[in-house]
Amino acid sequence: MAIARVTTIPASWYSDPEILRLEGERIFRRTWQYVARADQVAEAGQYVAARAGDVPVVVLRDGETLRGFVNVCRHRGHEVVSGEGVRKSLQCPYHAWTYGLDGCLRAAPRADREPGLDLGELSLLPVAVGEWGPFVFVNPDPDAPPLEEHLGELPALLAEFGLDLGALRFRHRVEWEVEANWKVVAENFLECYHCAVAHPGFSSVVDVAPEAYRLDAHETFLSQYGSVHGAVRSGKRSGPYDAVGEVEGQFHLVWPNFVLNVMPGRANLSAGTILPAGPGRAARLLDYWFAGDADEDWVRDLLAFDDQVGREDEALVESVQRGLGSGMLERGQLLGESEKLIVAFESMVDRALR
Ligand code: FES
Ligand SMILES: [Fe+2]
Repeated sequence: MAIARVTTIPASWYSDPEILRLEGERIFRRTWQYVARADQVAEAGQYVAARAGDVPVVVLRDGETLRGFVNVCRHRGHEVVSGEGVRKSLQCPYHAWTYGLDGCLRAAPRADREPGLDLGELSLLPVAVGEWGPFVFVNPDPDAPPLEEHLGELPALLAEFGLDLGALRFRHRVEWEVEANWKVVAENFLECYHCAVAHPGFSSVVDVAPEAYRLDAHETFLSQYGSVHGAVRSGKRSGPYDAVGEVEGQFHLVWPNFVLNVMPGRANLSAGTILPAGPGRAARLLDYWFAGDADEDWVRDLLAFDDQVGREDEALVESVQRGLGSGMLERGQLLGESEKLIVAFESMVDRALR
């Protein structure tokens, strides 16, 4: 699918505010964005305020129906709700315009004194919503093709690898920011060429040799598969956590910014987003799920291990951002094999911005 690029997209694309604006318009406003966990909007009246790119959105459960709206008041633009909770209606805190869970404007103070005001025309703007296992997505484009179409064969692939999403329980959320463009973060996620050098702990557990570590580019998602290192499997070496179990390690990026990780070993899952927070800054969010009866010590070890790998990555991407921002490198050089998922990702970026 991807046209092989020998070089990266221009280095300036990682710090140019105009590129960020274009990405907002041509990528984030028309792609599926992970915004909440299904358990946060399982019951009638539950809502979560989130961001799809730079668009404030709210997802909620109206009776049985999952709905999503642009979380911007039709009066003068205040965000209608914040955080999460349970509501019977959504009241904007600025002038108390009150919307039903169906998005319709039900009441506006002093509306009776304004004959020209037609509440029926001032509903919250809808966004497309979709659910997959424990994940809730929105697409700011209300006419977007369904989420299922975008996910393609990914749900089937995960099931095939022995991961039963329905059996997992949410455990932990981490949020942090890094001083790097969202694409630098995504591209760092998309290759394990750096693993042997930069992640000694990870590469002691997962076999990162090119013969063992598989890269697979699909139309809408980019996948990596890594098995437990032979030395760990045979008991000759023990890793930072006990990695022996049923599931194979796998790391997926669903275009443009949803990441889904399964570490090898017992049932586990982490998933989240890489959101632009400025040309040279990205907001990260990662939710963790484990089997309901997962061993506590094992969970703690895995979280500590993941945190360590995350810190190592943070230093890498922040350094890359400084390097790209220096203006001294016009384009980077890509490895067509070991970095083929970056080649595919950059083709997607390039196509979206054209
Ligand atoms: S901006 Fe929401 S009520 Fe005024
Ligand atoms: Fe890494």
